[in-house]
Amino acid sequence: MDALQKALSGAPEETLDPDDWTDVQALSHRILDDAVDYLRGVRERPVWEDVPAEIKPFFEAPLPRLPAPLAEVYRDVVANVMRYPMGNVHPRFWAWYMGSSNFTGALGDFLAAIQGSNLGGGNHAATYMDQQVVDWCKQMVGLPVSASGTLVSGGSMANIIGLTVARNVKAGIDVREHGVAAIEKPLRFYGSDQIHSCHRKAVEALGLGNRALRRIPTDGEYRIDIDALRAAIAQDRAEGNQPACLIGTAGTVNTGAIDDLQALARLAAEEDLWFHVDGCIGALIAIAPKNAYRVAGIAHADSVALDPHKWLHAPFEAGCALIRDASAHRDSFAVTPEYLMMTSRGLASGVHLNDYGFQTSRGFRALKIWMSLKEHGGDKFGRLIDQNIAQGHYLSALVEAEPLLELAAPTSINIVCYLALQPQISSALQR
Ligand SMILES: Cc1ncc(COP(=O)(O)O)c(C=O)c1O
Repeated sequence: MDALQKALSGAPEETLDPDDWTDVQALSHRILDDAVDYLRGVRERPVWEDVPAEIKPFFEAPLPRLPAPLAEVYRDVVANVMRYPMGNVHPRFWAWYMGSSNFTGALGDFLAAIQGSNLGGGNHAATYMDQQVVDWCKQMVGLPVSASGTLVSGGSMANIIGLTVARNVKAGIDVREHGVAAIEKPLRFYGSDQIHSCHRKAVEALGLGNRALRRIPTDGEYRIDIDALRAAIAQDRAEGNQPACLIGTAGTVNTGAIDDLQALARLAAEEDLWFHVDGCIGALIAIAPKNAYRVAGIAHADSVALDPHKWLHAPFEAGCALIRDASAHRDSFAVTPEYLMMTSRGLASGVHLNDYGFQTSRGFRALKIWMSLKEHGGDKFGRLIDQNIAQGHYLSALVEAEPLLELAAPTSINIVCYLALQPQISSALQR
């Protein structure tokens, strides 16, 4: 018995490695073949099916304590999980606004998990690729090379990163040290009444409270009303509040409306406010040749939130926060305990990416984005965005031509809101 076995009380060392790598290789080939068939045949399956009552107890089974062969585990997944997806990878999924993943991205996710690198930072290839993808995001929206950024789980996290930096820069005190209670005048953030709910969560989590986020009325096209915004800022100043940040939305989730980002950038400069763009839906329109004009002004933002898991179709999760002032970004999050100290060489000599957000451990999200961008090229994604907007306008025209349907909002990009005119539809069905 060697010393290690003795230390393990005589038991053989256990690991999670397969007993037989050849078996697991064969099964993995099958899983990959099935995955390709799954996507190739997606159109032949319904978009969505309710999980049948007889399947639900499967998800109530208690914690498995004993092993099961991987082939059996996989069979369970096929029968109970793969059969009943949300449906958003289906071409006819129109339930909520979201991306539809892509096969190359899925391979990227698999390889990222196989490599297993922790993107908290360090001197290794994944760190460099993470920074490269952030650089590509800056290029796509027109922020300067000197800007910084971080890949996060999605738009909600990307927005709270931007708003955290905005709060810290505009607070007038060291909020990290003294907390929000020490801020002299209550801070005010402004967005349209169409703003995404994640901003409410953000201001609440930032200790500012829901009331710190003023919802400004919108015009007939659901874009923020700039005169009303100007008046709200003046009113806040008069009442002793501290206007701090304008949030422009490039593509609202309700109707796809894009605020006038140029006017917002000008107003932010005049009023000395932080200009944040929630571009979770629309920031990447900046790379779409026919529609880029719609987001003109985004390059003036102090921070941008965008979602590679929407119009870059990265598999969930992938969001990105970009901050024009890289030091303000780092100053909002960096903490260096002794166990995260950098060294002058070796693995710990690489940049600490965890200095740019809330997470310490981070997944290798960049690979799935990098592989799809390399495979298809950014231009193609731009054309796909143009195509998708054209599809939205096509659907909108069909709705307008159909007497039983009515557009509920003007169509701006790829979100079409329409109603079925109930009484007419019922009588049409009875005939
Ligand atoms: C405008 C807007 N902002 C923020 C979000 C939140 O993004 P995520 O769902 O990626 O967290 C969304 C989601 O659709 C959105 O449309």
